[in-house]
Amino acid sequence: MGGGTSFPREPIDRNKVVIVTGGNTGIGYETAKWIAMLGAKVIIACRSDTRALEAIKRMKEEYATEKQKGTKGIIQDGDIDVTFMQVDLASLQSTKNFIENFKSSGQKLHTLVCNAGLGFLPLEFTEDGNELLFQTNYLSQFLICVHLIPLMENSGSDDCRIIMVSSSVHDFAPQFDISKVQGKDLKKSSYDEMEYYSYSKLYQVMQMYFMNKRLKDTNVSVLSIHPGIVKTEFQRNFHQSGACIVPIIKCFICCGCARNAFKGAETEIYAAIAPQLKGIRDVYYVDCKPKTTASQSRNSENQEALLKLSLELLKDYIPDSLAQRWLPIT
Ligand SMILES: NC(=O)c1ccc[n+]([C@@H]2O[C@H](COP(=O)([O-])OP(=O)(O)OC[C@H]3O[C@@H](n4cnc5c(N)ncnc54)[C@H](OP(=O)(O)O)[C@@H]3O)[C@@H](O)[C@H]2O)c1
Repeated sequence: MGGGTSFPREPIDRNKVVIVTGGNTGIGYETAKWIAMLGAKVIIACRSDTRALEAIKRMKEEYATEKQKGTKGIIQDGDIDVTFMQVDLASLQSTKNFIENFKSSGQKLHTLVCNAGLGFLPLEFTEDGNELLFQTNYLSQFLICVHLIPLMENSGSDDCRIIMVSSSVHDFAPQFDISKVQGKDLKKSSYDEMEYYSYSKLYQVMQMYFMNKRLKDTNVSVLSIHPGIVKTEFQRNFHQSGACIVPIIKCFICCGCARNAFKGAETEIYAAIAPQLKGIRDVYYVDCKPKTTASQSRNSENQEALLKLSLELLKDYIPDSLAQRWLPIT
C-alpha cells in the first residue's frame, strides 16, 4: 500500500456508523466499500435507487473476492453492512427528507463523508433558485451537517468526523465575492464552469474552518481532502464543457496518469478512519499528508459571510434551536 501514503487496514468497530454521500460510484463507492469491508455500518446517500442498489450488490461481490484472497484487515464473518438512503442534493426538500429519514431510523452517527459532487456542466439552477454546483457540492451537504452533528455529539464516541471532499482546484477560485455565491445573476453565455466548480470546492474548505471554530470543544472534528486526478464518472460531462482544465485532465487520463477510483479514495478513507487523526481539525490532506489550503479559504471574514448567507438560504430548513450555534461571529 505504499509507506504511509494509504489508509490503515485495521478492523473498525462493527457499531461505527458512517454515511458516504454519492457512495454509488467513483471515489465514494470505493470509500464506502472499504470502510464497510473493515467493519463499519455504511449508509450510501444517493439520488438513484437503481444505481445505489446495483452498487451495493457489486460491493458485496467484490468483498467476497477480497475475502477469498485473504485481504488483510477486512471482516471475516458474515457480510458487509451497506445500506442505501435516497437524497437528491439538488433539492433542499429531498435533503431535508433524507435527514428526517436518517433521524427516524434511530441509528447513531459517527462519520459523515461529504463526497457527492459534480461539475463541468452548462449553467443550471435548482428548484430552490441556486446555482446547481453551489447547492449540490456545498449547501445541501452543509444542511446535512447542521442536522446530524447533534447525533454525532450524542453518539457516545470521542472521535466523530466530517470529511469534506474538496479539490485542489479550490485554489484556482477567483476572489471570494458574496454577491456571486448563489449565482443569481448568472447568464448561460457568461457562465464559467471552472470558476463555479472551483468556488464550490472553496466553500467546502471554508465550511471546514467555520464549523471547526464552533465545534472545537466537542467530539466532532472536520477535515478536508483532495483525492488527486481520478478517472471516474466525474468526467461524464466533459464532452459538453469548454473549461480550459478539461483538455488537461483528458490528457492526464489518456496518458494513464490519472488514478483509478481506489487510489483516488485512499486519502478520503484515511481521513475518515485513521486512528491517529482523532481530534485533528482544520487539516486539508492530499496523498494522506497535510497540505496548505488557499489563503482566501482561511479568511475569517469570508468564512463568516458564507455562513451567514448559507443560514439565510436555509432558514426554512433549520429550526432556530439548531441555527443558534452557527450564528456568525462578529
Ligand atoms: N475525479 C476527480 O478527478 C476529482 C478530483 C478532485 C475532487 N473530486 C471530488 O470527488 C468527489 C467524488 O467525485 P468522483 O470523481 O467520484 O465523481 P463521480 O464518479 O461522478 O461520483 C459523484 C457522485 O456524486 C453523486 N451526485 C451528483 N449529484 C448528486 C445529487 N444531486 N444528489 C446526490 N448525489 C449526487 C453522483 O450520483 P449519480 O451516480 O447518481 O450521478 C455520484 O454518486 C466529488 O465531490 C468531486 O468534486 C474528484
